[in-house]
Amino acid sequence: MGDSVVLSLRNVWKIYQMGDIRVNALKDFSLDIQEGDYMVVMGPSGSGKSTFLQITGCLDKPTQGEVFIDGVNTSNMSDNQLAAIRNKKLGFVFQSFNLLSKMTAQENGALPLIYSGVSRRKRMERARDLLAQVGLGDRIHHRPNELSGGQQQRVAIARALANDPPVVLADEPTGNLDSKSSEEILNILKALHNSGKTIIVVTHDPEMIHQGNTIVHILDGQIEKIERKS
Ligand SMILES: Nc1ncnc2c1ncn2[C@@H]1O[C@H](COP(=O)(O)OP(=O)(O)O)[C@@H](O)[C@H]1O
Ligand SMILES: [Mg+2]
Repeated sequence: MGDSVVLSLRNVWKIYQMGDIRVNALKDFSLDIQEGDYMVVMGPSGSGKSTFLQITGCLDKPTQGEVFIDGVNTSNMSDNQLAAIRNKKLGFVFQSFNLLSKMTAQENGALPLIYSGVSRRKRMERARDLLAQVGLGDRIHHRPNELSGGQQQRVAIARALANDPPVVLADEPTGNLDSKSSEEILNILKALHNSGKTIIVVTHDPEMIHQGNTIVHILDGQIEKIERKS
């Protein structure tokens, strides 16, 4: 593991307000994520795991506190600046795949490259290569409804890798998958970690927990404990 911090949360609070109800989803939450780490985040349903991942990945802003990417405070960035940094540095994988149903696997995989100003031909080449890398070289023209859950999640991973981001964030990526498909996703994440990427994954999957280097237990919006494997 490197000794530099890629993402850092400092005294982060996230409060959701719905009518009269306030939910404190994160409470004075501070955490550093080291370059090259494989971080597994665990905790009961409603404990704030998805909120943590969204704020760490700058998909949402904290109510209070700061998020740093490579030491740079994101608080003062404009939405456009933040979107550009996110696109370059962070890849996202979600439990429900979030693919566009009318697009082929290849078009889905190529999506993030549109915002990077890459030509269509280059985008499609890159997506084809990434789909081959996740074992879907023979499925590039299939639409999501013509693919199994595990295959759809592999398309989502290819999409997350389109810009070759140094960090991949995944929210229960095997939560909707059978054990065989889960194992494939696990192997891909492992390979990505071995290739030098920083992985942050929310999961209940015992195999994935086993694979992680840093295990963060979240309870009621706070860090309950952190285990580090040497
Ligand atoms: N958009 C939202 N609006 C209001 N409350 C929310 C919202 N998202 C999450 N919450 C609440 O915040 C708490 C933490 O949710 P979440 O981060 O999704 O937990 P987890 O991923 O661990 O299940 C829960 O009580 C949840 O109901
Ligand atoms: Mg969640």
